[in-house]
Order: sequence, then structure tokens, then C-alpha cells
Amino acid sequence: MPQTVDQQTTGAATAEAGDMQAPVVSVRNVFYNIGGNEVLHDISFDVMPGEIFGIMGMSGSGKTTLLRLLMALIQPDSGEIVVHGEDITKLNEDGLNRVRSNMGMCFQYAALFDSLTVRANVAFALRNRRDLSVEEIDRRVGDLLDLVDMPGVQDRMPSDLSGGMKKRIGIARALIEHPDLMLYDEPSSGLDPVVAAVITGLIRSVRDEFASTTIIVSHDVASLFSIADRVLMLHGHRVVVIDTPEAMMASEEPAIAQFVKGETVGPLTEAAP
Ligand SMILES: Nc1ncnc2c1ncn2[C@@H]1O[C@H](COP(=O)(O)OP(=O)(O)O)[C@@H](O)[C@H]1O
Ligand SMILES: [Mg+2]
Repeated sequence: MPQTVDQQTTGAATAEAGDMQAPVVSVRNVFYNIGGNEVLHDISFDVMPGEIFGIMGMSGSGKTTLLRLLMALIQPDSGEIVVHGEDITKLNEDGLNRVRSNMGMCFQYAALFDSLTVRANVAFALRNRRDLSVEEIDRRVGDLLDLVDMPGVQDRMPSDLSGGMKKRIGIARALIEHPDLMLYDEPSSGLDPVVAAVITGLIRSVRDEFASTTIIVSHDVASLFSIADRVLMLHGHRVVVIDTPEAMMASEEPAIAQFVKGETVGPLTEAAP
């Protein structure tokens, strides 16, 4: 049987890590509407420390909106979004900046600044930090370029780089403030399968290196299942299931089976509920 939302905190990562740990992210009964259209309906889930948590669903199912809520770029109509014990729906701008500096975000269309070198792109979030020396910033940029396997490209311009290289630079940029929560929106989209697998491997090494809790949004089931500890499936504005990739692959629930197998006929492609 698929887990219900209420049972989700008994997922694999939790059990391995010990049941006493507090979640890094706890979303409780979140509702979000845009222009009278429901985008997210009663969304609840927990993400545990060090976990790689996937969010999947068809295009338009609200995945990016959910990430924007987690970053407090938008506010829910109701519900709580607790990050490191603080309800971010209740924070002022200073509080939000503090919470956001602990989050690294790789947006789907994270265009690098074309007029800036790789160094300036990666260091962008530090541009107003007077407490860090130029040497310290250079050292951090160099370390991160090593981590994403792009050593020595500090002086290159984004226009010189392939799509996969730009993704790596985007990941380095998101890591510059040493966040303990990484959010990725469609990290493998627009990449060929080989490069997509390299990026997936990189997301895992970033998690290992920084012990970062990781949330990945993707409609690419194969990539997501290859890396995620647990996956939340969104459909019809709601959480359909939260479970391990293994359990989802074995699921006979028609909507889950259709998504996992990528079939064109099934409940997901019938008229919207
Ligand atoms: N700023 C916006 N204005 C109007 N509709 C929006 C806006 N952002 C998202 N939506 C709508 O909300 C739904 C979910 O969008 P999104 O979160 O981008 O889905 P996904 O990332 O899963 O493809 C879509 O139907 C989209 O059209
Ligand atoms: Mg999206």
C-alpha cells in the first residue's frame, strides 16, 4: 500500500537516521490559489536532515510553485511552512533573508549573467559582503569550481559554456553561501541523458560534501528515482503519494503506475478532477 500523507515521516531516510530528528522542512496544510484557480490543495510533507526528497508531477501540477513557497518568494493562502523550526510565512524581510541565505536554489532557467565572468556569477550572492576578503571569495569560488568539476574556468564567459557546464556553474553559484538546504528545479531538463546523469551524480556529491538536505523537483522519473530517498507525487493540485522510489515502482495504484511507467493512457491523462 502507498503511504498516506500522515504516515510519511516513517519514510526510509527517517528510519535510518533515527526517529528523533526534527525535519528540516515541514509543510503543513498549505493551500495556494492564483487568480481564483487552485494551484496547491492541502499540501503536507516533511523533509528530514540529509535526505534527498523528490517532487514529481506533470507539467502544470504546481511543482515550481511549491519551491517558490519554500523560498518564501510567494506566500500561501493558508498553512504553515516551517524551515529549521521557523514558520517562514510569518517572518519579516530580515528573517527571510537570514533563512534564504541558508538555502541554495537552482532555478530551472537559472540564466547566468551573460556580461559577468564565471567568477562573478558564482560569487554573486557575496557581492555586498564587506566581511569577506577578495582572497576568501576567490578561494570559495575555486573550491566550488573544483567541486562541480570545472576547475580553472573563473575568467570564462557564460557564452563559452555548454548547457551542462552552465548547470554546473549554477550549482556552484547556489552553494556559495554554504547553504544547508538545496533546492533544484528540473536540474536535468534540456540536457542529454549522459549529461543529465552527470548532474544527478553531482547533486549527490554536493549533498555528501555539505550534508545538505536536498529537494529536487522534476518530471523526469528516471533521474529522480535514481537519486531520491523519497518522492512526493503531485497531481490534481494534491499530494497523491509520498514514498520511496522502490515502493512507487512496485505500486499498482493506477495514477502512480501510469506516471512511473510514462504511459499515455490512464487516470492522469483523463479529464482533470
Ligand atoms: N504567476 C502565475 N500566474 C498565473 N498562473 C500561474 C503562475 N504561476 C503558476 N501558475 C499556474 O499554476 C500552475 C502550476 O504551475 P507550476 O508551479 O509552474 O507547475 P510545474 O512547475 O509543475 O510545471 C499552472 O497551471 C500555472 O499555469
Ligand atoms: Mg516547473
